[in-house]
Amino acid sequence: MKVHTLSLKNFRNIGEIQLSFNEGVNIIYGENAQGKTNILEALWLFTGMRSFRASKDAEQILFGQSNAKIKTEFVSRGIEQSAEITFSEKKTALLNEIKQSSVNNFAAEYHAVIFSPEHLSLVKGGPKERRQFCDNALCQIKPGFYEYLSKYKKNLVQRNALLKDYKYNTSIEMMLDIFEENLAQLGTKIILQRKRYLNALSEQVKHIYHGISSGKEEIELVYMGSFDAESEEKTKDAFLKALKNSRSEDVNSLTTSVGPHRDDIDIFINGISARKFGSQGQQRSAVLALKLGEANVLKDKTGEQPIALLDDVMSELDEQRQDYILHHIDGWQVFITCCDPHTILRLKEGKTFHIAGGKLSDTTEPKT
Ligand SMILES: Nc1ncnc2c1ncn2[C@@H]1O[C@H](COP(=O)(O)OP(=O)(O)OP(=O)(O)O)[C@@H](O)[C@H]1O
Ligand SMILES: [Mg+2]
Repeated sequence: MKVHTLSLKNFRNIGEIQLSFNEGVNIIYGENAQGKTNILEALWLFTGMRSFRASKDAEQILFGQSNAKIKTEFVSRGIEQSAEITFSEKKTALLNEIKQSSVNNFAAEYHAVIFSPEHLSLVKGGPKERRQFCDNALCQIKPGFYEYLSKYKKNLVQRNALLKDYKYNTSIEMMLDIFEENLAQLGTKIILQRKRYLNALSEQVKHIYHGISSGKEEIELVYMGSFDAESEEKTKDAFLKALKNSRSEDVNSLTTSVGPHRDDIDIFINGISARKFGSQGQQRSAVLALKLGEANVLKDKTGEQPIALLDDVMSELDEQRQDYILHHIDGWQVFITCCDPHTILRLKEGKTFHIAGGKLSDTTEPKT
């Protein structure tokens, strides 16, 4: 999909702005605190998902105003479409001029991936971030996955609650058996789906990372289970066995120490852990490859290429890596924010927008 225009009214520090974009690369540049990320945030909100800044709706309205409006015209599935969100006491959403019960309805038409510096936690942070990254993608592409996941979580809460009683009353063992059987059944589905997704993702990420690093580095993603399973078929038996084996330890900690809720995805660059030993540029490149790889897998399923919103991605990347982002993300519409005006000098094709104080102060038309 491609975004043609964006209009903002009273959104964050922006009083009023109208932007019309290039179908390739768009660079939004300016000094700190001028409104660059605010523009990307607006472009993200049409996905129907929460802001990556995790703020309340009211925080998005320009201070002193009572409402804000954001509107876009875009092409998706070959159709010219429009989407509009009004933030006031209540949020209202229009898709192609028709009122929607929720902004979530936009998700079927408008697709984007976002990289922001906070997402570096995907490589640097704990396993929870990586599990969520994987599960969020699966919720979008595998109907039923969300249900497995929520049922699994409920059974986990039940098992943990029972562990407390089991300490003093071993006669509830039968109930514990039931919850463990449920956990093994649901957990196996989750693990297998994650592994399959990781295989598809891995292929994309390897290719993209190879490009970003000009072929100098190789990335590898490895699913790290919290118990050993010889094969896919044997996963359920192995999980059940691991649950039984960890019972006495779990009774003491009152938690379940094995299962997909404890699994992780290890990221290796040239065979070394990116989390522990990766340089800042390598970690940034890895997150970017994961995000773009995720979008490519999604594209294979939906047929629509998401737009890429890259907030402050250039800092800490050397010129070769920056050039890859500027010139080699084929077929994507990309929106990049940066402070350094030198970046725009290297742009061969595309459009640049200079933002100062929430206003557009200069636009460079596409070079051909
Ligand atoms: N609701 C609001 N009303 C008015 N101003 C706001 C509102 N929300 C945020 N701002 C201000 O918008 C300004 C620009 O924010 P933004 O995050 O877009 O900056 P930026 O250009 O991306 O800067 P940086 O280069 O530092 O990332 C900030 O100074 C912020 O305080
Ligand atoms: Mg910013």
